[in-house]
Parts: sequence; C-alpha cells; structure tokens
Amino acid sequence: MNIFNQLESNVRSYCRLFPTVFKTAQGAILENKEGQKYIDFLSGVGTLNYGHNNPQIKQRLLHYLESDGIVHGLDLATVAKEEFLETLDAIILKPRQLNYKVQFPGPTGTNAVEAALKLARKITGRETVIAFSNGYHGVTLGSLATTAKASQRASAGIPTTGVTFIPYDGYLGADIDTTEYLDKVLSDVGSGVSLPAAVIVETIQGAGGVNVASFEWLRSLERVCRKHDVILIVDDIQVGCGRTGSFFSFEQVGISPDIVTLSKSLSGFGLPFSLVLIKPELDQWKPGQHSGTFRGPNLAFVTAKAALDLYWQDDSFSTSVKHKGAIMQSCLEQIANNNRLADLSVRGRGMIQGLDCKDGNLADKIIRTAFSKGLIMETAGAQGQVIRCLPPLTVSEELLEEGLNLLLDIVNQVIEETVSKKLVDLGASK
Ligand SMILES: Cc1ncc(COP(=O)(O)O)c(C=O)c1O
Repeated sequence: MNIFNQLESNVRSYCRLFPTVFKTAQGAILENKEGQKYIDFLSGVGTLNYGHNNPQIKQRLLHYLESDGIVHGLDLATVAKEEFLETLDAIILKPRQLNYKVQFPGPTGTNAVEAALKLARKITGRETVIAFSNGYHGVTLGSLATTAKASQRASAGIPTTGVTFIPYDGYLGADIDTTEYLDKVLSDVGSGVSLPAAVIVETIQGAGGVNVASFEWLRSLERVCRKHDVILIVDDIQVGCGRTGSFFSFEQVGISPDIVTLSKSLSGFGLPFSLVLIKPELDQWKPGQHSGTFRGPNLAFVTAKAALDLYWQDDSFSTSVKHKGAIMQSCLEQIANNNRLADLSVRGRGMIQGLDCKDGNLADKIIRTAFSKGLIMETAGAQGQVIRCLPPLTVSEELLEEGLNLLLDIVNQVIEETVSKKLVDLGASK
C-alpha cells in the first residue's frame, strides 16, 4: 500500500477499511493482487447492482468503443443519449405511467442532489428545505447541508444553512408520526419553521443505518407536501435501480415525487452517471442555467441502456430480487435470534438489509473480521452500529448463501470473543 500512503490524500477512506490492492472483479467476487478472492456485499455502496463487469453490459460497451462512438460530447445530442432516453421512456417511465423530464447534471450522486435543491429553490423562491435526521445526500455544499451527521457537515468549514431537520420515521419511536409534527409546524406561522421550497427524503436511509420508512409515513409525507405546496424530492440514489425489488423504491409505496434523483447503479456498470427526473411543469430551468462540461456521459448511456434492456423488460428480475431479499432477511434474523448475548435486530427491504448491533465497536469488529475472512461489507448509522448488506442484485443464490453463512459464523465468533473478553476483564477487576 506504499504509493497510496505516500501520495494519495489523507482523505481516502474505504481503502483504510479494506487494506489490500484489488485487481479484478467479476459478478459478486473481487480479487486482489495476490489472487485472494472476496465476496462483495458492498457493491460500491449499491453502485454495482448488476455485478462487477457484467459480461453482457461489457459487450455493449466494447462494441460502442470499437465503433468509435462518441465518448465525450458535452450535452450535445448523440446517438447514445438518444437511445438511452428512448429506452428509459419505453421500459421504465411509460409502463409506470410516470411523466418526467430528464436532466443530466454532473455524473455523481451529489451533483443530482445539488441540481434538485437548486431547482426547487428557483421555482418556489423559498430558501429552506426540509431534510431528515440520519439522512445522507452527499458532501458538496448544498447536499452536505441536507446531510444530518454533524461531523460531516462540520467539514464544510462554513455554516451549512438553508435546511431544517425533522425527525425521520421511527426516530421518536414507533408510535409517533413525525409527519404530523411537520404538518403542524408548516401550518403554524408561530412555529419558527419557514415554509420550505422542498422536502428531500430517502425511502430507506442507507448511510443513516438502513432505516426503513413505512409506506404510510411516506404517503402522509406526500400529503403534507401537497397541502403546503412544497416540492417532494425522493433521493433514490442508493435504493433505486432495483435495490428494493422495484426499479424505483417508491413504486410500491404509490407516491408520486415531484423530483427524483438517481445515480450509483444507473449506469449498470459502475460508471459515474446521475440524473434528475423532474415533473414537466417544474422543468423551469433556462437553457444553460445549470450547465457544465460533463453532462453527457456517453459510455454510461450505452451501459445504462443495456442494463434496462437486459433486466427491466419484464418482472422476472424484480421477482428474483424480492426472493433473494427474503433469503437475506431470514438469514440475518437467524443470526439475530441465535445471539442472545448481543442485542441484534434486522431491518431492510429487498436486497438492502441491515443488522443493527446497537454498538459501533461490535459492528466494526464484525466487518473487519469479515474482511479478513474474505467478505466485504461496511457499517452504517450515526455510530456505525449497523452492518449494511448490499450484494449485487445479480448474485447467485449459492454465493449469496455462502456469504450469509460466512457472516453467521463471523458474528458468532466475534460475539463469543467479545463476551469472553468481558468476563476475563470482569474477573481481573475483582
Ligand atoms: C441517498 C444518497 N444520496 C446521495 C449520495 C451521494 O452520492 P455520491 O457519493 O455519488 O456523490 C449518496 C451516496 O452514498 C446516497 O446514498
């Protein structure tokens, strides 16, 4: 790891958690320089829903490159973009009766969030937006302001303003509907909360600890937005593109967001790509008003179209994701129920599942041990207390079960070690 330590900025993060040099990858398996294999339950934090180097998607990309298709094109009209838009419309939007315009912001998730927030403020002329406890929307200034974790916002070096945080579903306990609170403060001019331009929400908070909002809460949130004429932005960057079992995570909920942000697995191949879906009447951008150099990632258009063609023409992929999600959930529940020595619980939807260890140190020990035994996962939540499992959606059932069984053994081993160490410490202190 010498050159990385010597030359790469101190800001690097994931390579500290997984200190090895990776070389190749295929499907749900990563391989390092020494040829050691790892099962990937991280998937680039949900970027590789269709697996590493998906062979069919790769073929389309190689063919495009071979034919001298345009790689960089600013936001010029290109054949790759034309075909992507036609496919998105035909396979995703039309069958779901969704009517959206498509904006290509810069290629990362935070670029999409910036564009969405800026547009909402421009349309309404209002300054603030509502975001939620434990929400995560990226680290550039506008989206960072909507990211809940204090240490992350502090890195801005200036006050992150223009955001009011409201408790997410379940934050105040299962019996308290925090949308009622939101409705109350927006109804009352004496509440101190200004009428916001928008509400930005994740249907399942990924980085925040796999917190799953109930459908009823999300529907109520939509009603509150409609009542107060506030724009509803669903940030589907982590849990969109099939992660929960449907292309958009809000489909099963039955809400109709005004703006949707997508990124991560959108390109289908791990290439940087994001977009903003905007209800047509809200597409109030002036030409060039939110422009930039990288607004037409043609390679990503090609691979994203391939992913839609391959996986979203019918329900079979959705069905398999739901089925594998159920396998994950039942195995994690078995892990939680078997370990009475620790307070473990499970939550998630589809193939994003979290094992809440209620203890950041324990979760950290588990993922580090997992890495040493060939399984890659990370933690989430304010204290890093939740083990977040995000395997590629295309993983075979056999490999999924192999990874889950490995996790089961590792959790048992780490908890046993932790408990016996506590007993030894207790004995020594007597
Ligand atoms: C819900 C959500 N929004 C936004 C982002 C930011 O995306 P990026 O890291 O590509 O800027 C993330 C990244 O994890 C995310 O999970």
